[in-house]
Amino acid sequence: MAEVLDAFTDWRTVDEAVECLPHEARESVAVVIPELVSRGLLLAEGSQEDTRDEALDARWGPWSPEASFFHFATQNHIYSEASGDDREALAAQGRPPIFTTYPEADRILLPRVPGRLDEPLGQVLYRRRTHRSFTSAPVPLVPFAALLSSTFGPADYIDAGAFGALIRRTSPSGGARQELEAYLGIRQVSGVTPGWYHYNSLEHSLELMAEGCTGEDLSAMCGNQQWVEDAAFIVVLTAEIERMLAKYRNPRAYRVCLLNAGHLGQTFALSAVALGLGPFQTGAFHDKALAERLNLDNVSRTPLYVLGAGLPEGEWASIPAGADMETFGLTTLQAKTTTPPARPA
Ligand SMILES: Cc1cc2nc3c(=O)[nH]c(=O)nc-3n(C[C@H](O)[C@H](O)[C@H](O)COP(=O)(O)O)c2cc1C
Repeated sequence: MAEVLDAFTDWRTVDEAVECLPHEARESVAVVIPELVSRGLLLAEGSQEDTRDEALDARWGPWSPEASFFHFATQNHIYSEASGDDREALAAQGRPPIFTTYPEADRILLPRVPGRLDEPLGQVLYRRRTHRSFTSAPVPLVPFAALLSSTFGPADYIDAGAFGALIRRTSPSGGARQELEAYLGIRQVSGVTPGWYHYNSLEHSLELMAEGCTGEDLSAMCGNQQWVEDAAFIVVLTAEIERMLAKYRNPRAYRVCLLNAGHLGQTFALSAVALGLGPFQTGAFHDKALAERLNLDNVSRTPLYVLGAGLPEGEWASIPAGADMETFGLTTLQAKTTTPPARPA
């Protein structure tokens, strides 16, 4: 079967394919081909699927096939209420621990001084910028601890019926699963020995995963972006897969994990600004290296997003300049035509 498929790496007629398969009898190849077509493993040139593939290649370019497969394979999910029995079974599975803890780890209990998050939201929203330049002073422990509890700590608990109690944070989370855990690489926070930690949000403590963390480590983990060297700490948002999977069995739920990560990222950035820190976030990070450093298996616990902060070097020092008339001269403000792109058949 694989050999027959291999004969179709380019567009070929059945006769041409038979020529590529000298060990196979023409009759058996002729029987197998319609079967492969009916199962969607072979496409006919000019068919609807072929036209759609062509459009995908043209519009999604090098993102295809990895990203387009995930995107389209998880579209159009049919939502249905689980039956009573299913719900019970699901609820029984759906009670993995709501907190991740490492009871054997060395730990630092964080101060419970409430953070000063009383700056008007309008000011915080417009003051939030991605910072890439930091002073050499360590981040004080109180705002650091307040940032962790206000972003990742429990705000309260809901009664989720058969699922038991579930955590609510200051960010929303699909199904209140709160499957994302905060792991940290800490270089320069007062009172914290540089190292890699897990934030235990039940206890409001840092649990040591690995000793030692330098600016070079942080930069290497974040795609060698040099400015990350000066960050005081990074937060590695890590999905606890079982916590989500136990309730949501459909692969579309993975999208929800990514969306949840974005929500936490925004709450982190706004809280950091309100607490006088300069936040950033990056999609450029080395997943496997981070997992190794944090002693995560990268299967059941896997990094999804990296956030970070330091003390900002001047309010606007590292912020790119605003656009001027020259910049707008280089900008396509809107498409010349209003005709929407043709939809593939
Ligand atoms: C998901 C995501 C990934 C990002 N990744 C990077 C990155 O790898 N490196 C970087 O310098 N900035 C990164 N940024 C920051 C953006 O460049 C920044 O948000 C954008 O320039 C707008 O600036 P502002 O955040 O100050 O509004 C990222 C932002 C987001 C939301």
